[in-house]
Amino acid sequence: MIDRDRLERRGAELSRIAGRGTSVSRLGLSADEQQARELVGGWLAARGATVRRDAAANLFARFPGQGETILVGSHLDSVPEGGRFDGALGVLSAVEAVESLVDAKLRTRRPIEVVAWSDEEGARFGVGLFGSTAVFGRLAPGVGERRDRDGISIAEALRELGEQGDPAAARRDPKELAAYLELHIEQGPRLDTAGLALGIVSDIVGIYHARVTIRGRADHAGATVMTARADALAAASEVVLAVEQIAGERPDSVGTVGEIAVRPGAKNVVPGECVFSLDLRAARDHDGLVHEVLATLMSIASVRGVEVTVDDLARVPATPLDPAIRQVLERATKSVGVDAPLLVSGAGHDAQNPALSGVPTGMIFVRSTGGSHTPREFASIDDAALGAQALANAIKELAT
Ligand code: GLV
Ligand code: MN
Ligand code: MN
Repeated sequence: MIDRDRLERRGAELSRIAGRGTSVSRLGLSADEQQARELVGGWLAARGATVRRDAAANLFARFPGQGETILVGSHLDSVPEGGRFDGALGVLSAVEAVESLVDAKLRTRRPIEVVAWSDEEGARFGVGLFGSTAVFGRLAPGVGERRDRDGISIAEALRELGEQGDPAAARRDPKELAAYLELHIEQGPRLDTAGLALGIVSDIVGIYHARVTIRGRADHAGATVMTARADALAAASEVVLAVEQIAGERPDSVGTVGEIAVRPGAKNVVPGECVFSLDLRAARDHDGLVHEVLATLMSIASVRGVEVTVDDLARVPATPLDPAIRQVLERATKSVGVDAPLLVSGAGHDAQNPALSGVPTGMIFVRSTGGSHTPREFASIDDAALGAQALANAIKELAT
């Protein structure tokens, strides 16, 4: 049985690490994320798990057994000024689910490992799903040299934590794994609207992340006539609106420019350079969406006479999850009294990496309200406990 009070107490304890009120700013590969790993690792070590951190700063806590491993977890980092549940609830539920099996003295055959992936959000270095991408050998070459706003590279951040600085060394053979399970808050309104506590993920959208630099010409804001300008921000603004329009016209697609910086950045200077992010997602024809946006970007640049460079940060294809694991999750959610609907996830998840590497992978969504990536994000302890119990049931079925 899930210990609801323990789950609630630990959730509160975890959210105090880099938290203020309901807001959490626990960035990936930071000392705060490390403190969270120590807290979680401590809980599991106390229950007899072998706890280790790998070269990409992922935390693994292993209970031994025979054959391939059942891996279960989520991430401990957050976006800046994010909420208490995104990622954290998945790790807390995995811990609680596994502990409930230990409490029940259940003998499972397979090894069970709880994982807390590092830097899922990519908020600091721009590389999302970082830890799981490293473990499944999918990191882009040279990723260790990516830098945060203070000029600190990923390799330096890892060395600061006591690792060697080579995240690719975290690679594991996916054949070691029998299954990967992840519980996560839904982050959208569908379960709440349907009045259901739990859902099962069928697919995760394809995600493209890039950093675009537009170079125009900085000049005097008073002395430069309108026809003689190469305004990098004006060009970028046209791109922002094009992203909105293109994604809005394509089925199941979303597009966001969430970061923008202008140089030199003064009210009386025509912007010479503009750097902004692109986040493009689609459940269907993701490649078509990316292609259309990039082609439009190039044509806006050419008409305006500005230069563009596009730095690809990540491209994760749309990912179907495993049908057999889905059936396990259907049984597990039914056994806690929920007729869980199938949902497509518009958010990216670490589960994409094992799924794309051939590991049978499944996800449970827990009803959440207040949106996500904001301090308003909320999941009730009743729903969380129900989700953790379903997760425990699924682990039990897969591991025994
Ligand atoms: C992860 O939170 C994402 O950006 O989908
Ligand atoms: Mn998440
Ligand atoms: Mn997130």
